[in-house]
Amino acid sequence: MIPKSFIQDLLNRLDIIDVIERYVPLKKAGANYSACCPFHNEKSPSFTVSPAKQFYHCFGCGAHGTAITFMMEHAGMGFVEAVEELAKGVGMEVPREAPLPGQLQKKAAPDLYEVMLSATRYYREQLKKSSRAIEYLKGRGLSGEIVARFGIGYAPDGWQNLESITANYQDKSLVETGLVIEGDNGKRYDRFRDRIMFPIVNSRGQVIGFGGRVLDKGEPKYLNSPETPLFEKGRELYGLFQAQKPIRSQQMVVVVEGYMDVVALAQHGVDYAVATLGTATTPFHVQKLLRLTDQVVFCFDGDAAGQRAAWRAMENALPHLQDGKRLGFLFLPVEHDPDTYVREFGREAFEYELHNSLPLSGYLLRELSAKVNLQTQEGRSNLLELAKPLLLAISAPALALLLRKEVAALAGISIHELDSLYGVKSTIAMPRRELQKAARPAVSNMRILLRCLLFRPGLARELPDNLMADDGLVAAIFEIRSWIFAQDEEVTSAALFQFFQGTVHESLVVAEQAEIIQWGEAFDVQAEFQGVLGKLEDEARRKKFHQLQAKMAGNDINILSVEDKALYLQLLRRK
Ligand code: GTP
Ligand code: MN
Repeated sequence: MIPKSFIQDLLNRLDIIDVIERYVPLKKAGANYSACCPFHNEKSPSFTVSPAKQFYHCFGCGAHGTAITFMMEHAGMGFVEAVEELAKGVGMEVPREAPLPGQLQKKAAPDLYEVMLSATRYYREQLKKSSRAIEYLKGRGLSGEIVARFGIGYAPDGWQNLESITANYQDKSLVETGLVIEGDNGKRYDRFRDRIMFPIVNSRGQVIGFGGRVLDKGEPKYLNSPETPLFEKGRELYGLFQAQKPIRSQQMVVVVEGYMDVVALAQHGVDYAVATLGTATTPFHVQKLLRLTDQVVFCFDGDAAGQRAAWRAMENALPHLQDGKRLGFLFLPVEHDPDTYVREFGREAFEYELHNSLPLSGYLLRELSAKVNLQTQEGRSNLLELAKPLLLAISAPALALLLRKEVAALAGISIHELDSLYGVKSTIAMPRRELQKAARPAVSNMRILLRCLLFRPGLARELPDNLMADDGLVAAIFEIRSWIFAQDEEVTSAALFQFFQGTVHESLVVAEQAEIIQWGEAFDVQAEFQGVLGKLEDEARRKKFHQLQAKMAGNDINILSVEDKALYLQLLRRK
């Protein structure tokens, strides 16, 4: 565990401009720096870095974060790694805290990468020696070049072949990498025997796991590495390392189900495909891909399992959609998977299908309307019921609106009726001025408060204890406050921002960050802060006054306790 205080020191010592400039040429633009965003394709720069606040924000794709986040997202590093790399750059040593008892220990394990590399080399050597394995791969249409590009190898039959890659077969690293299994009796044996080996590589090109396929019939067809300190299935995508460049240049990524699909597609020139690792497409996968490109097409097998996988992918994608990004769904004929399809019909046919894939909106509506009978009242109300959680999960405002319109039309009601049914604050056909009037004042006050705290975290020390309001903003504000009270030193915006990454408040904080970065130093934080506190106080007073009034129904002030009476009179005077 890296102590939190160290993260803060590090962020204070760094200059985000130096960090990002190593990867992306930045241009000064007013108080900020800007560039074409490295996380999505664009022609005019919407990627903005604030030297004052030490964070970046892309107004195009929403990528955002601190120097640490940048290293994670751009260079594909893990958190610890990013911190270590940045610390090295400014001559700081990363201290380690002992983990609390019972806490999952995920230690940095460079030696494990070495072990994986040796195993990969070994399996590749063994492939050369096995004509049976070579024949198998040839039989599946793969060239030597593609086999080499994906580092595919062969684990020969036998129980302890990996003895030859290590000085000590009993070393714990072999078990920790999942290459070797220790039985109940303590006896050890190789996990992968007589299998074609597909190395799973992280975004920096290090092997972190394997998928192993039987050559003949046998169970299980694929055996995968277990989750290890190096390998977390829900975060990795097979083939992403090899596909990174093509994805950026093609502005598209295809997500398929199998290792063989990725490799066969690459063999046929579709080199921008990746596969999930026998798991559903996770929100993390979707985010990762949407940072690389604007267009993601899910191409799952035509069978029932493929249909289920597509639906899960869609559900997990909804909260990460952005207007301007396109998610497509391609369903191949039932008897095909991408591998057999591209081998039979070729690249052009496959790419034609990709470009004609069903957009997410079309897919969602098609599936929903297939589930209900739209001819009946019950069916239409059922549709509204089923669509509600999906539509409310969509983060992209324009897409969400279009879909709500569609669903309303399908159900035979107006968009206004649908919005009121779903509790959506309708933004349709209301002139802008009215819209502003309609916004709840408490919310905007709280947002200004949050903005002030993000701008100058130290202001949290001046917050009153009795801040009231019942929305998520207040929870965020309280968290900032208690965190700041726990710190010995002054907290910077960047440190605060880092603190919120990955929490439920992240999107809220990001929205305010986008504001701050635009306003720059023109934001008079002290005045805004005092102003908003004053308004909040007024509001609290008014609320208390009305409560007391309600208590003394019939205007009999003597019902109130002595304290309440005094307070009421005091409030009455100030009114
Ligand atoms: P091929 O028969 O080699 O063409 O396989 P495929 O790539 O078409 O794979 P399939 O569609 O059968 O399965 C898709 C993915 O699910 C595979 O790439 C594996 O990640 C995973 N998978 C398939 N079978 C098994 C299995 O028996 N066990 C486990 N753990 N995962 C499997
Ligand atoms: Mn297949």
